Amino acid sequence: MLQWEELHRVCMDCTKCALCETRNNVVFGVGNRQTDILFVGEGPGEQEDLKGEPFVGPAGKLLDDMLSIIDLDRNKCYIANIVKCRPPKNRDPLETEQDACIDYLRNQVALIKPKIIVCLGRIAATRLIRPDFRITREHGTWTERGGIWFTATYHPSALLRDVSKRPDAFDDLMAIREKIRSLSME
Ligand code: URA
Repeated sequence: MLQWEELHRVCMDCTKCALCETRNNVVFGVGNRQTDILFVGEGPGEQEDLKGEPFVGPAGKLLDDMLSIIDLDRNKCYIANIVKCRPPKNRDPLETEQDACIDYLRNQVALIKPKIIVCLGRIAATRLIRPDFRITREHGTWTERGGIWFTATYHPSALLRDVSKRPDAFDDLMAIREKIRSLSME
């Protein structure tokens, strides 16, 4: 396991998959490294690739709103992605790209030691919770593994596309706030 500084340096120079050829920036992650709660998206989009920071585009604005509903902001939690470089045209990251990148996220989890990991959307949920996780049916459910509570909610991009999912996402956020309280993280 690498410490933050070295992990960041290695990640910035990564050439483990072909996404390195088309990226502008590696999107390492942002937020509070001493937090108890980690949010994981799928991979950087155009704005994130240009800025080197996760969730800074339209979906990021919505994520900030979602965080504020449960009294969080970027300084109180950590935000990362399954893959750290932008898949061309925002396609889903390939299994091979996820495999190449996942150890960076594992290392971040080992350093942060969160009590809660919130998967944002299907890609993060199938990678971190269960390969056959069904976001529509199973969002808002909780699984404990290795002392960490995992849950998933809709990806903010999905909530921008389909506002009818928002009440369900709101319920998921309420459950996350309740879990934060019950784990005495406030
Ligand atoms: N979508 C993601 O999954 N992650 C980002 O960082 C931005 C958009």
